[in-house]
Amino acid sequence: MTLQSTPPTVRIVEVGPRDGLQNIREPISTPIKLELIRRLEETGLDTIELTSVVSPKAIPQLADCREVLGSPQVKHLVSKSHLRLPVLVPNVKGLNIAIQHGVKEIAVFISATEGFSKANINCTVEQAIERARHVASLALKSNLSVRGYVSCIFADPYDGPTSPASVLHCVRKLLDAGCYEVSLGDTLGIGSPANVRSLIKYLVREGIALDKIAGHFHDTYGQAVANVWEAYNCGLRVFDSSVAGLGGCPFAPGASGNVASEDLVYMFHNAGISTGVDLPKLVETGIWISETISKPHSSRVGTALSIKSKAATSAAASMIKKSSKDAPLQWNMFSETEGLQLFRSGVNLKLVLNRPKNGNALTASMISDLTSAITAASQHPQTSRIIITAAGKFFCTGMDLGKESTPVAQGDATSKAQFERLTSLFEALDQSPKVTIACMNGPAFGGGVGLAFACDIRLAVRNAAVTLSEAKLGLCPATISKYVIREWGISFAREAMLSARPVTTDELKTKGLVSDVADTPEQLGTRLDELLAQLKVASPDASRMSKELVRLAWAHAGTEKQAHGIRRLFEEMMGANADGAD
Ligand code: HMG
Ligand code: MG
Repeated sequence: MTLQSTPPTVRIVEVGPRDGLQNIREPISTPIKLELIRRLEETGLDTIELTSVVSPKAIPQLADCREVLGSPQVKHLVSKSHLRLPVLVPNVKGLNIAIQHGVKEIAVFISATEGFSKANINCTVEQAIERARHVASLALKSNLSVRGYVSCIFADPYDGPTSPASVLHCVRKLLDAGCYEVSLGDTLGIGSPANVRSLIKYLVREGIALDKIAGHFHDTYGQAVANVWEAYNCGLRVFDSSVAGLGGCPFAPGASGNVASEDLVYMFHNAGISTGVDLPKLVETGIWISETISKPHSSRVGTALSIKSKAATSAAASMIKKSSKDAPLQWNMFSETEGLQLFRSGVNLKLVLNRPKNGNALTASMISDLTSAITAASQHPQTSRIIITAAGKFFCTGMDLGKESTPVAQGDATSKAQFERLTSLFEALDQSPKVTIACMNGPAFGGGVGLAFACDIRLAVRNAAVTLSEAKLGLCPATISKYVIREWGISFAREAMLSARPVTTDELKTKGLVSDVADTPEQLGTRLDELLAQLKVASPDASRMSKELVRLAWAHAGTEKQAHGIRRLFEEMMGANADGAD
């Protein structure tokens, strides 16, 4: 019998969804954050810091922590026992919110230095230690695990260099408070390997066990990978990092992101050290998140590997994209009413919902204008395709339920008029002989989902989750059910209606309900151009007849009406004057 030695391993704590995003000013939607978490978990990472429950004034970017933690996706992940999903909390308020959302692990954080402590959490180091101790003891009583952070291990942005003795003091206090491990944060990214070695040796000499500390290095001075390697060689086995090297702290001005997870995984794998992470998937995730939130991609490994894999596939891609490499379609606006703009490019008509501040919620006048535009285009011989898209972050959030304008609970006449309006809109779209396309630039809710699914084809940007949110409001998706249930299938539609949960674009794509998913709004424009080029293969009559065949199949399958309809279309297509004769 031969003895097999197990390969050395390290644990990577992915802090991208928290440290990576917290300092970004531009709002990032919750579905993008959830998609990031989903993708990270799929790479094999088993520790992911999900978010922080802190003051939304201090960190506005993570003000949606309740939505993230309350989402069915995160709840499902939290139920998986092999995952560690810590949430950063500064105080009892944060802890209670985390507990209410079923979180099983929190991270408490203090600084070894006064200046950063004051700026970051508005208290002295000793007060912070006391607060962390109290939070940790309550968390442990509720059976949560507690991780600790000590920031500014080498220097403080306001006070200058940090004494190793203050780091030791903080580490001891956090371990005494019950933290299972304390992460040493070089918040400014200023340290280099010599500093790392000297601090770790000092802590170990003073009695801190190596398996109780982790490394958290920011990369401001380009030393972070070297620091991790040095720490590994000093005996550390747990490292925090952030996909694409995103990150930073608003209270550490000038400091850059965390060491990139891709760079660590590459380094360790090349040294025969296992991380359990699928590097190509991680690289893909890093490129995706950087493009999606339009932030620089700071992983050198990610950039190099993605260029390599792009080169390998470019021949195939250039074949597929040949037609779209032509100049992008030019759209000319020819009409504008309140909340709706109409554009034309040749035989293509584009309807743009233009009420971005209200999530493109449909007012009565928008519904009427949309219906008129679709009805007119359906009869217009020079129009072959109708595209519906929208301005701003959302595709369409459904009926306008604003306080002043809601048609809900306004009496019979209002209800009847709204029913007629909505039915006319969806029927105009559904009955149109033209090819109809929903180009979903963002999430859709309620009637917005109906709008998308009364169309023939859908393209979506990655974050364009769809939610049949009616049940949450005490309503039901009445007028849209005809189209949504037809396209989704009964069982799936029922579950989505009852749960009122966001259905992600990946799920829609897997089920064949959207034909293409783009990573960015720009890419969505290109995909639309590609689709419109592709659709040119069909003559207008061929498109109309194909649509009719599909309708006969779902509305009259197996009946005389279907048989008769198929025969009629057959005769039409074979006629001397039909497109086929050309
Ligand atoms: P404060 O102003 O001293 O305390 O803030 P407060 O109790 O008066 O609260 C102020 C407001 O925040 C109140 O709201 C509270 O309700 C609310 P208002 O009445 O004004 O409307 N609030 C909260 N809201 C949601 N969740 C909470 C919460 N607590 C209070 N948990 C406080 C003190 C600690 C709250 C604040 O300074 C804070 O939230 N700081 C967090 C800052 C932060 O998240 N920094 C980044 C993380 S640390 C880091 O990045 C370093 C690390 O990566 C390691 C490294 O690199 O070194 C970990
Ligand atoms: Mg950090």
